[in-house]
Order: sequence, then C-alpha cells, then structure tokens
Amino acid sequence: MKKLFLIGLLSMLVSVKVAEAAAPDEGMWLPMFVERLNYVDMQKMGLKLTAEELYSINNSSIKDAIVSLGGFCTAELVSPEGLLLTNHHCGYSAIQTHSSVEHDYLTDGFWAMKKSEELPNEGLTVTFLHHMEDMTQKILSVVNDDMTEDERSEAIKKEIDKYTKEAEQDGKYVVELKSFFNGNEYYMFVYEEYKDVRLVGAPPSSIGKFGGDTDNWMWPRHTGDFAMFRIYTAPDGSPAEYSEDNIPFKSKHFLPISIKGYKENDFAMIWGFPGTTDRYRTSSAVSATLNEINPAIVKMLRAMLDVQDEEMAKSDKVRIQYASNNASLANFWKNKLGETRDLKRLNVVEKKRQSEKELEKWINADPARKAKYGTVLSDFNEIYSKYTEQNIFPLLWNTQLVFFGSQAFTLPSMSKGIETILKTGVKGEALQKEMQSYREKAEAIFKDYDNTIERRVLVTALEIFRDKIPTNQHPDIYKVINSKFKGDIVKFVDYIFEKSPFLTYDNFNKFLDKPSEKAIKKDLAVEMYNSFVMNFMSVQGGAKELATKNRTTQRLYLAALREMYPDKSFYPDANSTLRMTYGKVISYYPADAVHYDYYTTIEGVMAKENPSDPDFVVPERLKQLYYKKDFGQYAENGTLPVCFLTDNDITGGNSGSPVLDGDGNLIGIAFDGNWEAMSGNILFEPELQRTINVDARYVLWVIDKYAGAKNIMDELTIVK
Ligand code: ARG
Repeated sequence: MKKLFLIGLLSMLVSVKVAEAAAPDEGMWLPMFVERLNYVDMQKMGLKLTAEELYSINNSSIKDAIVSLGGFCTAELVSPEGLLLTNHHCGYSAIQTHSSVEHDYLTDGFWAMKKSEELPNEGLTVTFLHHMEDMTQKILSVVNDDMTEDERSEAIKKEIDKYTKEAEQDGKYVVELKSFFNGNEYYMFVYEEYKDVRLVGAPPSSIGKFGGDTDNWMWPRHTGDFAMFRIYTAPDGSPAEYSEDNIPFKSKHFLPISIKGYKENDFAMIWGFPGTTDRYRTSSAVSATLNEINPAIVKMLRAMLDVQDEEMAKSDKVRIQYASNNASLANFWKNKLGETRDLKRLNVVEKKRQSEKELEKWINADPARKAKYGTVLSDFNEIYSKYTEQNIFPLLWNTQLVFFGSQAFTLPSMSKGIETILKTGVKGEALQKEMQSYREKAEAIFKDYDNTIERRVLVTALEIFRDKIPTNQHPDIYKVINSKFKGDIVKFVDYIFEKSPFLTYDNFNKFLDKPSEKAIKKDLAVEMYNSFVMNFMSVQGGAKELATKNRTTQRLYLAALREMYPDKSFYPDANSTLRMTYGKVISYYPADAVHYDYYTTIEGVMAKENPSDPDFVVPERLKQLYYKKDFGQYAENGTLPVCFLTDNDITGGNSGSPVLDGDGNLIGIAFDGNWEAMSGNILFEPELQRTINVDARYVLWVIDKYAGAKNIMDELTIVK
C-alpha cells in the first residue's frame, strides 16, 4: 500500500517535472507584447536584459540591430559601421550575380579586404522596424456583422490604405498594415528602408553550403552558413540609392559576438522575420495539403530539378547560371517532401480533429456560442469537400508550378506591353527607344537562362500538367498541341523554341529590331501563356465563393478558439513581420533509442569529406588548419564547434536571424529546421522540433583564420 502510494507520488512528480521541462518553446511573439506576455518567463529561463533593452521606441534596443533582408531573410548588425551578418544561402543570389566562370565566388568565396572592394547589389534592400502599433480597434470600427464578407474586405482595405498613407509621411517610411489571427486583429509596422546594401564577404560554398541539398533540412549539420553585407547611406545618414559618395551606415545598436559558448539548457532567443506559418489550419485543410497540394509540388519540382541537375553538371557556365534558382527549388521540394511524410507520420490530421472536437463541445455547451460559431466546423468540411470535388487545388497548384519553375512564360508575359506600344502607332526611332527597356529586361533574364534547360523543363512541365489534370480542365493550348502537333509536346516545344520571338535571346532581339503586332498575334508561345493565365483565372473565379466563405470561417474559427481559452497567450501566425522566439539550447531523440547531441564540431566536417561528391568537398585550406589544430580562441575541448541546436520556434524568413544569449550577445545564426519535424509550420512539435544554428565561433574562425579578413575582425566586438 505504502509502496503503491509512493510510486503514485513519484510518477506524479515525474509527470510534473516532465511537463515543466517539456514546456513547449513554441511561439513567434510580437515585439510590442514581449514585456506583457513573455518577459517574466524569459527571465526565469536566463534572460538578463530589461524589457526596454529588447524593444523600445525611444531608446536603442535589440530590435534596432535586426533587419529584414530583401523581405526573404533576416540579417543583424554586428558593428558600429553597418556591417551585417546573415546566412550564406540568403546571400546566395547576390553571390551568384557577381560570379562568372572567371570569378567564381560561389566556389571560391569572396572577401572585400577594404570597403572600396565591397560589391553593390541592385534591388537588394534592408528594412528596420521603427515601431509597431495596434490598429485593431480603429480598423474593426468600420465593419459590422450585417456586412457581407466582400463589403467587409472593401471597408477594411479603405482604412488600411488611409492609415498606411498617413504613416508613410510622403515616403519617409515603408508601412505595412496587416491582418493577424485571420482578420481578428490588425497591426501596423513602420519601417525604414535602406537601398544601398553591399556584399562584404562569403565563404566558399564548400563551407557556406557544405552538405548541400543532401544535408539540407537535416541534423547533424556541418555548414558554415553565413555571409556578410554592409548598409550604406547618403553622407547625411539618410537612406539612399547606391552612390560612390555613400558612407557606411551608423548603427544605432549592434550585437556583440560571444565566444564563451553555451551548455545544454542555456537560454537562447531569436529575433527575425519569419515568413509564413499555418498553425491554425484545420483538419480538412491539412488533408488537402497532404493529399492534393503537396503531391503536386513534389512531383513537378522533382522532375524540373532532375533536368536542371543534369544540365548543370555539364557546364560551369550553366552551373553558375542556375545555382540560385536550383537551390531554392531544391529547398522547397525537400521541404514539401518532408512535410508530407511528417504530416502522416505525426498524425497531424487526427490531432487537429481531436482539438476541433474539443472546440465543438465547447461551442455546443452554450446557446449564444452555438448561434455565433455553430456552423464553423461543418462549414470547413463543406468548403473543402467542394474544393476537392472540383479539383481546385491540383489545378491551381500545377499552374503555379509551371510558371514558377519554367522561364518560358517570362517573355511571353511581356508581349502584351509591347502590343500596347505598337497599337499607339509609334514608329522608327521613337519605337526603338520604347523597345530599349525590353532589351535591358531581356539582358537580365537571359543572363541566367539556358535554352536547353528551358526547353526540357517546359516539356516536363507541360507533360506532367497534362497527365495530372483531367482533359476538361486543360488550358486551350493543349487543343493546339493535339491538332497541330498530334499531341506531341516535344514537337510543340521544339517548334516554339525555334519560331517564337519570346523564348530565345537571338529571336527576341531580332523581333525588337522589327516588332510587329502580327508576330505577337500568331505566336504560339504567347498563346500558351495566355491560355494558362485564362484557365487559372477562370478556375479562381469559379472558386471565389468558396474562398470568400473560407475567409469568414477562418476568422470565426480563430475567434472561437481564443474565446475558449481566455487565459492562454496566443501568438499570431508568421507573416513576414518582426518576431521574437525564446527557448534553450537542447538535444533531441530523432527516433526510438536514438539520441542526437546538441552540437557538432569540425571533426564531423572531416568525417563527411568526400572529394567525389560536390556536396562534401572540404577546402584544402580548411584541412591544413584542421591538421595544425589552428583553432585559436575559438576552440572548445581541443576542437572547433560548428553548429548547434535550440528549440526556438522559427520558419523560412528567419534564415540569418541572430541567436542571442541571456546578455543579448550573438552566439550563432539560425539557418535551418530539422528533418523529423518538417510539418512544423502546421503543428509545432515540442519534443522534435529544433532550430539549426551555425556557431558564432565557427563563423569567426572562418573570417579570422580561414579568410584572414583582419579588416572585418577589427570591426567586431568579441565577448570572451
Ligand atoms: N533549408 C534552408 C531554409 O529554408 C535553406 C538551406 C539552403 N541550402 C540548400 N542546400 N538548398 O532556410
């Protein structure tokens, strides 16, 4: 009896302990609410900064060191002179743009040894959050329950435009006013944008992309995934387009870099710009993702990648041309492959159904709730079964994938603009002046365009589309392919690549010399483009009612959920706005009886070396430093740390984000998620989900010992 009681007590204690230890470090929190919602918890976990030092409107704070890089990644200031750290994969497209067979910075890396060598990047911007504001009451004051969903959207859009315009102050700020919690709340983000951002340094891909697409999305990892940029301003410190007269940005706040290291369970927080999550997606929507959307993505992208991979291996020129495009397709493909598997493996649909059942019980327990939310869940089921019946998702997704992976639609999409110019009747020199902008656009497009790849990718895309989508839902171009080319897609594609003005550099330039409406009208590449667009729009138009109803339902669903748990702090889904996530350094069990430690070292780089696999080449210089054990002040236990794990809640867009210790020092840069929790954008898995970070000591070692970039080291503040 006594023994039983003891066991009971013990297991109770154990379960309490487990519950505490497993407190999920889930959540991407809004900076302005950190003090109210998270601060106390963060202090308990090891944060030593004040709330004001994290986010302040009046004084410099952590938020002033964090920028959105081009809207797709995060970067952070690490020097008083505007020096930024981010990921190698975030700088990849810029590095590629500066690369050629003669100067292959992708392969060899790039280091500006003085500021005058830093490379400008047209179109690349960074934005700082100036402040954010809760606009919920203002925005929602113009809507009421009698409005239709369309009236509601219209009214809200008008308000958003009004407040945005006001806050922009005639171009002083870039403003985003966005919906949060599916239209239940609205926040305004006021940003300062800088347009002169230069490349300062990047390791060779054999460090910055070590492991390549083989290791991508996986732990244990050995990638030095970092690159450096610098922000420049006009001489008076204001944002400006690139100019030789510009000067380095004066940082309001920058992050010291700690080489003290960390232990398991140490506090870690990440600030950055996560792109999209869908944590409140319902079971019916997850089913559609699993059965209809992801399979389409995986199938189409893999086939396109196979073509690219094969052709890229044949020529250095083509390898460089397609490096960035290929890496992002491959990244997306592997993400969706893993997401599909984990949605199944982790029973996400079933887990969602369970929580929907709870919600249903809660709704049905009260007549007022029933009146307000009674049909929410059945509405979802109805909406999604109609989507399925009409084959909407495969159709829309396959169309987008064709556009996404094939560049054969890019120039045809510009034919309308040329046609409009021709219709005005301009001739001779005036016409040639108008065509000049198209010549320039073409230079940019064809710089990274290979006829063989594009021809083969188009064949692949058109064939998969034809096989996956029922005939009655095909764009009209398939009728032409059937009648004029006996259904032979290869013949059709060969024909348009030979004849169309819009698919090859030579034909396009010839056309621009003598542009004619007639050539556009009879062109089959243009017809192909138009027919895909028309088809897409008519499907979208047909599904508009469903989409509208879905919006209403999603808003109500989230309102109900939050009403059901009044004491719970909810965080909004990621939407490319600045967020903070906090947690700890921590290992995990990827499978039964398998344990993964929380850090990797250079020993693992050497163990993975394989000179005959491009993903695992180790640079000669790295090996020499390794054999000499020349790790300097960056070593721990006689070796060099490379990557580590935290349980922070991040997603794409967070790439390049700083990992900060309790004192606000940078200890690493976040760059990936892990293979066992690929469904994390839909359901956070506290036991499995990890953030993969490159260790600040590895980054510094590469800059200092490998590259010998003393100029960069001199700018940094190192905490020992
Ligand atoms: N998985 C990383 C992310 O989404 C990108 C890694 C890029 N590397 C690559 N091998 N494609 O942020």
